[in-house]
Amino acid sequence: MNVLLLGSGGREHALAWKLAQSPLLERLYAAPGNPGIAEHAEIVDIAVNDHRAVIDFCLRHSIGFVVIGPEAPLVAGLADNLRTMGLAVFGPNKVPAQLEGSKGFTKDLCARERIPTAGYVRCESRDGALASLEDFGLPVVIKADGLAAGKGVTVAFTHEEAEGAVHAIFAEPGASVVIEEFLEGEEASLFVLTDGETLVSFGSAQDHKRVGDGDTGPNTGGMGAYSPAPVLTPALEARAIDEIVRPTIAALARMGAPYSGVLYAGLMLTPTGPKLIEYNARFGDPECQVLMMRYTGDLLQLMLAVAKGELAGQPAPTFAARTALTVVMAANGYPGTPETGGAIAGIERAEATGAKVFHAGTRMDGDTLVAAGGRVLSVTALGETAKAAQAAAYAAVDAIDFPTGFSRRDIGWREVARQP
Ligand code: AMP
Ligand code: GLY
Repeated sequence: MNVLLLGSGGREHALAWKLAQSPLLERLYAAPGNPGIAEHAEIVDIAVNDHRAVIDFCLRHSIGFVVIGPEAPLVAGLADNLRTMGLAVFGPNKVPAQLEGSKGFTKDLCARERIPTAGYVRCESRDGALASLEDFGLPVVIKADGLAAGKGVTVAFTHEEAEGAVHAIFAEPGASVVIEEFLEGEEASLFVLTDGETLVSFGSAQDHKRVGDGDTGPNTGGMGAYSPAPVLTPALEARAIDEIVRPTIAALARMGAPYSGVLYAGLMLTPTGPKLIEYNARFGDPECQVLMMRYTGDLLQLMLAVAKGELAGQPAPTFAARTALTVVMAANGYPGTPETGGAIAGIERAEATGAKVFHAGTRMDGDTLVAAGGRVLSVTALGETAKAAQAAAYAAVDAIDFPTGFSRRDIGWREVARQP
């Protein structure tokens, strides 16, 4: 079967690497891709936001399956348009992708279904939002509605900060805001595959959103991750599936908008049980890299079963018992304006240690690999424990020569600290 993979991040490199191991795969194409993805796929020049062009490409190249990596094309309805043409797709349609695309949609669904999440109000006006702040204690969480790439959330510890965040959001015309109660606890991510009816766990992870060591500095797309996340015990995972994920999938099916793909639940493990912080309609980046490092099955076969509504007939996904840990190497300046063009060397040396180096923002400049974005590489290793995986990942990071880049040095610290 010929497959088209859409996206260009470390997540998509990990997916390409795993798809390429499937005996079902004939040819893999990718757009826009990156030099890491190009090791497994033919990179093709199609604009992912031009749905007509994606469909034309699929028809001309006998594509049997399209895997959509990032959220933007899902929220824009690319999966709907491909399905209308009879193509099999991994990723939800536009309406169910609103679980990620609109925080208000998700909060309203949670309220209707009594799904545990932070108390909230949704406001369409600045004055309404400022008045609503009175109803919350401190800290309080202010979120812009709509896709915000992790940058639309403020945890405000003072009234001034909270009002500042509201003013900043309503500086945009047509803005709306969700104001939420602050949840105490540790965060963990749960990944669930579903064809709209059947659902199966695809493992857990913890990521590190702040740019600096000790979880300091501005939020990023993620500076590192590890899987599994033992804080999400089997009992807590079962509760999260029964109380949060399953009712969500059932509600969407009843709305006539069944969810097909991977659903990524960002959870807060509070003293009274798991509560939903947010949903994403795709794999996490860099969480996907650690999940793929541990997954031992045929990814193409499993994704096809999801797309075709045949998940009920599949054996449960199997994972290596070891911990996978990934460290993101970013370009100086990230998450602000990254310094691009800096040379990168030593990837072979890093992989000789047994690690896997996934490309994110890289490109070839002649014969030299250079940085082409904020997050540049995702250096991933396995270990018997989180501590061993951390040591292995940093040994590989240290083999890479990327003078205009940086990484956090403490990825996995929570789990490493818990180990004897
Ligand atoms: P989100 O984009 O909704 O995932 O929010 C980004 C980050 O803000 C989350 O990963 C949490 O660390 C934090 N956050 C969001 N909502 C809450 C909440 N209600 N209580 C505490 N922290 C939150
Ligand atoms: N690493 C967080 C995300 O992919 O949303």
